[in-house]
Amino acid sequence: MDYKKKVAQAISKHVDMDIESIEKLIEIPPKSDMGDYAFPCFQLAKAFRKAPNMISEELASKISNEGFEKITNIGPYVNFFADKSIFTKNTIEKVLTEGDEYGSSNIGEGKTICVEYSSPNIAKPFHVGHLFTTAIGNSLYKIFKKEGYNVQGINHLGDWGTQFGKLISAYKRWGNEEALEKNAIDELLRIYVKFHDEAEKEPSLEDEGRAYFKALEDGDKEVEALWKRFRDLSLKEFERIYEIFDVKFDSYAGEAFYNDKMDVVVNELKEKNLLVESNGAQVVMLDEYNMPPCIVLKGDGASIYATRDLAAAMYRKKTYDFYKSIYVVGTPQALHFKQVFKVLELAGHEWAKDCVHVGFGLVKFADRKLSTRKGEVILLDDLIRESIDKTLEVINEKNPDLDNKEEVAKKIGVGAVVFTYLKNSREKDIVFDWKEMLSFDGETGPYVQYSYARANSILTRAGELKGNADYSKLTSKEEFELVKALEGFAKQIHLATEKLEPSIVTRYAIEVAKAFNKFYNAHSVLNLEDEELKEARLGLVKATCQVIKNSLALLGIEVVDKM
Ligand code: ARG
Repeated sequence: MDYKKKVAQAISKHVDMDIESIEKLIEIPPKSDMGDYAFPCFQLAKAFRKAPNMISEELASKISNEGFEKITNIGPYVNFFADKSIFTKNTIEKVLTEGDEYGSSNIGEGKTICVEYSSPNIAKPFHVGHLFTTAIGNSLYKIFKKEGYNVQGINHLGDWGTQFGKLISAYKRWGNEEALEKNAIDELLRIYVKFHDEAEKEPSLEDEGRAYFKALEDGDKEVEALWKRFRDLSLKEFERIYEIFDVKFDSYAGEAFYNDKMDVVVNELKEKNLLVESNGAQVVMLDEYNMPPCIVLKGDGASIYATRDLAAAMYRKKTYDFYKSIYVVGTPQALHFKQVFKVLELAGHEWAKDCVHVGFGLVKFADRKLSTRKGEVILLDDLIRESIDKTLEVINEKNPDLDNKEEVAKKIGVGAVVFTYLKNSREKDIVFDWKEMLSFDGETGPYVQYSYARANSILTRAGELKGNADYSKLTSKEEFELVKALEGFAKQIHLATEKLEPSIVTRYAIEVAKAFNKFYNAHSVLNLEDEELKEARLGLVKATCQVIKNSLALLGIEVVDKM
């Protein structure tokens, strides 16, 4: 049972508002002696023709006490004290019966959400910023799934554009087969950088690059084969990273996929009289909306990044008939998406309002500067390796006899990186600071995972649950706070979908872990005479494990049973 709904239901019998609006107003009081839920009466002043304090007094005396310990009023608030034993029993039993499904809902049933994330550029290093979009997108994907949406994960690979003409030209001139086989992205980056250096001295190289891109667009077999090879080799490298983080996509339709789908878009914009010529290019003017023009075709008639995004948006609408189409891309591209969505709107597509850019901040490091492009690629593998190694050090110190230490360190180390990405509101810049992110007692991934392992070890020591729990015996403040935290999972998931913020789930996982540790530091679980109390506490511990596991799963982080 959703207790908040129960509160809303009780209120709805006495005020002229629907349950949902009441539910939106309900607050969690800052202190537990003010009750578990509070309903502010300010909005009712007009209808009741009374001061809010008087309304709260009237409501508190009228609303039926059934299912509540008591109902009082404090100032303009009606305060509800949950009937703890019913609440506790219902919550724990619900978690234990629903298991991995706990927290799910069917809010999104019948609706499709496109989530575009990761989208690295072929032949370029996958950098720490790409890992940011990957972590956010992967988590949003799981969060929406949990609410019953049909979700489509899309990797909009940067695999098209004039740079591929340059790359082909560079490869033909300076490519080294052996190096390409060994480390494709390094080699492709090397020759790409060389192309730019050489083109400064020898400008005709640019023309050669353009000619190769033209050949690629026109379907020249040899050129296309090279492009495909670069794409495959790059993808292999990206997939290695996706495997580490257990990230999957339903579609890898990148920019190249829209090569034959742009004419239609351009023609549509022409027909709707949106295209005008500006310095030889075809653009959609957006000055009325305080934006620079959106370039659709360059002077030489070639399409660009925005053209492909217009085609992609239309394709996604046609193919998935989405309810929302989300783009997880760094905040520096905010203007680009505003332009693209505006052009769609001007072209009369009312669904343009359902396209949402989900931005995120920059990635920084506490102990080093992030500068060269070359540095970034090393940094990503380093980041993962270092996180795993440092976790291993901690394990060696704390629990040297642990079985399969490497595997545990990998899950915790990788989890710590993801957790760091998802801990704060995504628009904020994030700072990787080893000491902080790997600490077992800060607000970190390892802390939450450690709490899980701690709880899990209690269960292992206890053996099978006997099923004779008396949950009405869980009356302490710490127990009730933990139960309340467990109960709030679905609500936090929903908030995360509304704000498109995985950090809401991350913070939630931290809250549950904290509440668990407070409980466990204050009460023993195994050394108890009273069997019914012991069973009840074990049930609470088991439910806690389940909720931590489910919440970390939404972030793309696996738990470990021992650490
Ligand atoms: N490939 C681009 C980059 O690495 C990101 C693509 C973002 N998605 C989009 N639909 N434009 O910067």
